[in-house]
Amino acid sequence: MTTPASNLPLERIETASTDELRALQLKRLKATLAHAYANSPVYKSKFDAAGVHPNDCRSLSDLAKFPFTTKADLRDNYPFGMFAVPRDNIVRIHASSGTTGKPTVVGYTQNDIDTWANLVARSLRASGARRGDMVHVSYGYGLFTGGLGAHYGAERLGLTVVPFGGGQTERQVQLMQDFKPDMIMVTPSYMLAIADEFERQGIDPRSSSLRLGVFGAEPWTNDMRLAIEQRMGIDAVDIYGLSEVMGPGVANECIETKDGPTIWEDHFYPEIINPETGELVADGEMGELVFTSLTKEALPIIRYRTRDLTRLLPGTARTMRRMEKITGRSDDMMIVRGVNVFPTQIEELILKQPVLAPHYQCVLSKDGHLDSLAVHVEVAAGQTHDSAAAQAAAAALAHAVKTFVGSSIRVVLKPCGGVERSMGKAKRVLDQR
Ligand code: DLL
Repeated sequence: MTTPASNLPLERIETASTDELRALQLKRLKATLAHAYANSPVYKSKFDAAGVHPNDCRSLSDLAKFPFTTKADLRDNYPFGMFAVPRDNIVRIHASSGTTGKPTVVGYTQNDIDTWANLVARSLRASGARRGDMVHVSYGYGLFTGGLGAHYGAERLGLTVVPFGGGQTERQVQLMQDFKPDMIMVTPSYMLAIADEFERQGIDPRSSSLRLGVFGAEPWTNDMRLAIEQRMGIDAVDIYGLSEVMGPGVANECIETKDGPTIWEDHFYPEIINPETGELVADGEMGELVFTSLTKEALPIIRYRTRDLTRLLPGTARTMRRMEKITGRSDDMMIVRGVNVFPTQIEELILKQPVLAPHYQCVLSKDGHLDSLAVHVEVAAGQTHDSAAAQAAAAALAHAVKTFVGSSIRVVLKPCGGVERSMGKAKRVLDQR
């Protein structure tokens, strides 16, 4: 693709020296630990129970002495029990739906909202947004952080925002044809559904006005990036974030390099741990991503276990470190007859079969006492699912999964539109065991 980098100026800290960055992180970390301890009874009791005090943090490596925070901490203190400021200083609440039990509730002060808007603005600039761009936002608005997070950041950067939200796919396409946005912000899976809708309306998606897409909120592979770029005729970059840590814009890929999201380390301190032992692992090694917020007021988050699996990589387009594109969440990992399988591994192999389309779902069931994995996958537009070509592609996919992942799967071919479309995060695993 040919999109140039942004013509909007970077913030100085984005290219500051590592020494300057580490000094700023330490200063902010000490302040965050002190704030959490003094103002959140939950953190006070967690630190006390672990026998640590904010004064024990003299270097960044001392952070490892502090206890982790998990989703369970937020759930146990539902709804506002983790907040470290009085309720009347909170200007915004968001919540994650949570498939089981209570939702996870997060809150923001006005300063938190400003920081968030600035970081999404920074993310969009890293993505290649240019002065005067119009951005169509298809992330859901509401309690989900995607829509409003994207929206405030785009406005902060001075872009023209079309706050469409999720759903009404036919109208999304209609409005894009009429308004001619330069950029779209949407989940990668919903982008594909929108591309299908362009085609259904007889419009070549490559002829749309879009130049750039900023995709996140769910795992997606580099092969999916290529598929989207080719199908839409755009550049596709990765935006990462999670509600507990802020929302979208914790990390974002730089268009110059497209080599994994740069973590905005002046606001979030990353660690990678062995998910089984909780021990820190070195940069470059795979493990679970853990974040500590460095500037948040309403909900300081100390060593939050994201359950996202990745590794830390050195900075390239910026001084700050990158994270490798997320291969999967530990929650999404399927264990099939002793073999670990991530939906992204299946996605990569589906994308190698031109007769198949990357609309897929992994369905787990019991075959007697044994686990069985069926991959439901659609054939590409113009193909029929019972053709010899489709059967051959299914066999090739099953063979590739056996060879590269080590699992025997059953491939269930579906006609175009046969796999349920998400309008937000795709549900890749259906566990029927
Ligand atoms: O999904 C925030 C967001 C909105 C990010 C829009 C990007 C764009 P949650 O609903 O709390 O927040 O879900 C967070 O989604 O822990 C990851 O498992 C996953 N996730 C988010 N971004 C990415 C990404 C938003 N770029 C959870 N790649 C995270 C892979 C992602 N997974």
